[in-house]
Amino acid sequence: MFTLLPSEGERTEQPEASLTREDYDRAFGVVYTPPALVEFMVSLAAPAVSPCRVLEPACADAPFLRAFARRYGETHALTGVEINPDSLRGAARLLPSATFHEADFLLWDTEERFDIVIGNPPYGIIGDGSHYPIHLLKERKAQYRARSRTWRGKYNIYGAFIERAVNLLKPDGKLVFVVPASWLVLDDFQTLRAFLAQMGRVRVFYLGRVFPKRNVSAVVLLLERGQQGLELYDGMEHLALRRERYTGEIIRFEAEDPLQVERAGVPLGEVFHIHFAARSPEIRRHPAVRSEPGEGLVPVLTGRNLRAGWIDYDTCYSGWWFPKERAPELRSFYAFPHLVVAHTKGTSVVAAVDDRCYPWREEFHLVPKEDGIDLHAVCDYLNSVRVQEYVRFLYRDFVPHLTATMLRRVCLPLNLVCHKSLHNQLSLDIEGGNYE
Ligand SMILES: C[S@@+](CC[C@H](N)C(=O)[O-])C[C@H]1O[C@@H](n2cnc3c(N)ncnc32)[C@H](O)[C@@H]1O
Repeated sequence: MFTLLPSEGERTEQPEASLTREDYDRAFGVVYTPPALVEFMVSLAAPAVSPCRVLEPACADAPFLRAFARRYGETHALTGVEINPDSLRGAARLLPSATFHEADFLLWDTEERFDIVIGNPPYGIIGDGSHYPIHLLKERKAQYRARSRTWRGKYNIYGAFIERAVNLLKPDGKLVFVVPASWLVLDDFQTLRAFLAQMGRVRVFYLGRVFPKRNVSAVVLLLERGQQGLELYDGMEHLALRRERYTGEIIRFEAEDPLQVERAGVPLGEVFHIHFAARSPEIRRHPAVRSEPGEGLVPVLTGRNLRAGWIDYDTCYSGWWFPKERAPELRSFYAFPHLVVAHTKGTSVVAAVDDRCYPWREEFHLVPKEDGIDLHAVCDYLNSVRVQEYVRFLYRDFVPHLTATMLRRVCLPLNLVCHKSLHNQLSLDIEGGNYE
């Protein structure tokens, strides 16, 4: 059961209708599209045939259909789908020539296929209200998942919208959606990227923080069915990357300089096992954990204890204390000195060596695959300006944190890598034909 939209600021007594507009917007992933962005996207959706069939999913008051009709005329068959009947009434009043359906787009069954699907789908992870924004639709999550072939991990409702929208295109149709940039790099979207690559040419326009007051970096995705390849634009016009063939790899701003860093070294993922810290529920359940300091107890460390090249072992930000010698019961690698790299500090690499072997609740923990690695030298390199520029250039602010995939690909210069890794890498290069 989901709730209807009350008027601005209104609250009523019934629990189901007790949402302010802000609550509703958060719960349904509502982000209103700036008019200049609507115009840009409509310019990408120029009709190849006339009249054509245009669909705006999650249309609210149909800003894209209205802009489309203004620019290309009202002879086209315009359709909007929206879950909220109040918004639909507004849409029907503003664009009487269009057809509107009150439906959940992800469960909407239609035989119709469209030349153009355009819009701004809702964003957010569907789940429990205390953790995830899209909680009003959580009862439907199993149905969404059953109908989606790209759903992975926690996923995000916008991924399911992209898939459904592409499946409603005619064989030469076009999708134009503005969505968060996270699908370019996150593992949860690997299947979606492969699906898009298979369905047509993927063109991505990176726009960054284009939504006022929203902490989300956005891209416009233009998918042209019946074509192939990948294009990445920096902004609305500047072509930064073109590939004739694309099969779903992560998408990043690849340029000569940052790629030199990769070519000149061995990927961190070859040299280190990259683990994640013990999770909060495991720590909370452990019989030795305490919520007060005490004899023989040390703070459980978090990202806030980690700085470049330095760890604050004294301040307890987690609210938990733990016997230091029992830390390996949480994760075996807490038993010995190892490298800790931040997950939670934006797209930058912040590393320090934990040589006191404390328990941790956050961050990546890197354990060398073989002896002889100088952890402090690797740590200095990871904190260097060169590495910061490399990650920043390739991944901008696509996601608010460093991911394991990004970290795995950071390459270490050969002098920091010991003999065996180097040998393995050289054999790989020779097998792969990269050896010059
Ligand atoms: C991000 S807003 C986009 C609004 C509009 N497209 C714009 O750009 O201004 C999302 C809209 O999606 C609607 N919505 C959320 N989940 C939906 C669903 N599963 N099916 C259809 N509409 C949905 C919300 O009611 C809201 O109007």
